[in-house]
Amino acid sequence: MSRDRWHIVNPRGEKRVIVTRDLPGDRWVEILSAAGCRVEIFTGPAALSPDEIRQRIGARCDGVIGQLVEAWNESLFQALQGAGGKVYSNYAVGFNNIDLAAATRCGIAVGNTPGVLTEATAELAVALTLAAARRLGEAERHLRAGKWKRWLPQLFLGTQLRGKTVGVIGAGRIGAAYARMMMEGHKTDILYFSLRPKPDLEAFADAYNRFLTARQELPVVCRRAEAVADLLREADCVSIHTPLDERTRHLIDAECLALMKPDAVLVNTSRGPVVDEAALVAHCRRHPRFRAALDVYEEEPALAPGLADLENVVLVPHIGSATHWAREGMTILAACNVAAVLVGNPVWNRAAVDAFLRADPPPAAPSILNAEALNLPLVKAAD
Ligand code: DGY
Repeated sequence: MSRDRWHIVNPRGEKRVIVTRDLPGDRWVEILSAAGCRVEIFTGPAALSPDEIRQRIGARCDGVIGQLVEAWNESLFQALQGAGGKVYSNYAVGFNNIDLAAATRCGIAVGNTPGVLTEATAELAVALTLAAARRLGEAERHLRAGKWKRWLPQLFLGTQLRGKTVGVIGAGRIGAAYARMMMEGHKTDILYFSLRPKPDLEAFADAYNRFLTARQELPVVCRRAEAVADLLREADCVSIHTPLDERTRHLIDAECLALMKPDAVLVNTSRGPVVDEAALVAHCRRHPRFRAALDVYEEEPALAPGLADLENVVLVPHIGSATHWAREGMTILAACNVAAVLVGNPVWNRAAVDAFLRADPPPAAPSILNAEALNLPLVKAAD
């Protein structure tokens, strides 16, 4: 019975913290133990059901570290509130699995893990862009199937990125890191769409252009698109970095795909439902020179019918943040979120979180999404 597969650390700890999936590294357990927590870690192979989580919360539970595959809704937050709980931290930066308003109504602080997975996820988006543009999946399958007979001048010709226009939808931390990597690493132009202009990203392009022009190289262009439709029409590659919410669900649908160039590349490392997957399958079938590379899916781990049969798509299983460094950093932020709220420390909520990766992290919760709504104290500017 899966509910019996629990590992208990610091059994005499006064505060009870449940962790719904074993996490990498040891530092996070030390942080929770040092804050006086008894840590109960689920080690079973399958995901816990909402009922199993509710039962484990039981009559007394102070905090939980949970997973993006669990729907943290009103009912779970009420169970946590009823057990005297104060805090839940997602082991993820994305929080579309959480009903934040319900958590706030229940007085539960909700943490996430931004900052430490920015480069890992941006790197995967770059890798997928290259894999799709240079047809790596097709080429590898060809070779492994024993079909490669000789070097040929026209074997797997793909798209070279230098000088191409890369569209970035959502230029937050990860989107901006991806844009910088593409500009500097591959000398692409960037056309980004975000609700507000990104002066830091444009300043990066200006500084890089001083370097390029001093070497008599062509400068790159980095500008904001007025609308997603403009970006889709102009870009050779489009990479999606928006959070998932009601405004971005099926942001890329059949109509949007029809605006894109017939040989464009579409990359998604954000959340699956931002793209209408059935429409993407139909589009890729109709346009064999169009390529898509996906890390995330509408109904993970299921794929839309036909997706896995397409030669012109690259598919990986939601591994954007899957580096040892990023995943261990995420555990530290999640543990610090829970420990800080339980001992009454203030909230950090600043973009830079590197201080939490040092041996002696600040006495603060790195990222609490509803800190303002719950009126939680913030770390003072000079601290
Ligand atoms: C996140 O953090 O939201 C990613 O999807 C998993 O790391």
